[in-house]
Amino acid sequence: MRKVFIAPSILSADFKNLYNEIKYLKEEGADYLHFDVMDGHFVPNISFGSHVLNSIKDVNLIKDVHLMIDDPDKFFIDFIKSGADIITFHYEALKNKEDIFKLIKKIKEKGVKVGISIKPNTGVEEILEFLPNLDLVLIMSVEPGFGGQKFMENSINKIKKLYDLKKVNGYNYLIEVDGGINDLTAKSVVDAGADILVSGSYIFKAKDKKEAIKKLLGE
Ligand code: DX5
Ligand code: ZN
Repeated sequence: MRKVFIAPSILSADFKNLYNEIKYLKEEGADYLHFDVMDGHFVPNISFGSHVLNSIKDVNLIKDVHLMIDDPDKFFIDFIKSGADIITFHYEALKNKEDIFKLIKKIKEKGVKVGISIKPNTGVEEILEFLPNLDLVLIMSVEPGFGGQKFMENSINKIKKLYDLKKVNGYNYLIEVDGGINDLTAKSVVDAGADILVSGSYIFKAKDKKEAIKKLLGE
C-alpha cells in the first residue's frame, strides 16, 4: 500500500500559541508542516512571511512552503534560508514556460525540493511539460486564499490523471491536495492517488489532533 502523509496547514493554528500548536504534530502522526504564504495580490488575503517560518525552524517536520504570491522568483530564497524543505509555486503566477523552467532549476540548485501548484480552474494538461522535473504537484481543491472552504470535487479527476501519468511515465513527483480535506473528503483523494493531504481547519479545530490525523488516514 502507498504511504499517505499528512501536512497540517498552520494557517488555521492559534498564532498566539503557535509553537505549542505544532510541537507535538510529529508524535500526533504528521510528517509535513504546510506553510501558506499569501501576498494579497495573487490571492485576496495576506498571511505571513519567512520570519514566521524561521521562528519554527526547529520543529521536526518537513517544511512544505506553498507560495501563493505573484513573484515567487523574488522571494523563494528567503524561505529556503528560513528552513524550507519544499518550495511550491503557482503555475498561474508565472505561466511563461522559460520562467517556470528557470525557477524550477534555481530552487533545485539550492538543494530544496520543488513543486508546482494549480488552482481549481487550471487543468493538468497545462503543466505536462514540467512534470518530469518536479518533486511535487499540488492540486488546489479550493480557490486559494482562505482556510475552511468546501472541497471541490473536480480535483479528484486531476489527481487520477496525475497518478496515471506518474505510473505510465515513471515520474517521481508526490501528489499533494490542499483545501477542504477532512474525515469525509480524505478517502476520495487517497483513493484517487494522493500522497500528501494538507489539512488546516480540520486538524487545528479538532480537540484531539492525533485522532483527527488518524481519521484522515482512515485508521
Ligand atoms: C488555502 C490554503 C490551504 C488552507 C487549507 O489557500 O492553501 O492550505 O490552509 O485549509 P483547510 O484545510 O481549512 O481547507
Ligand atoms: Zn496551501
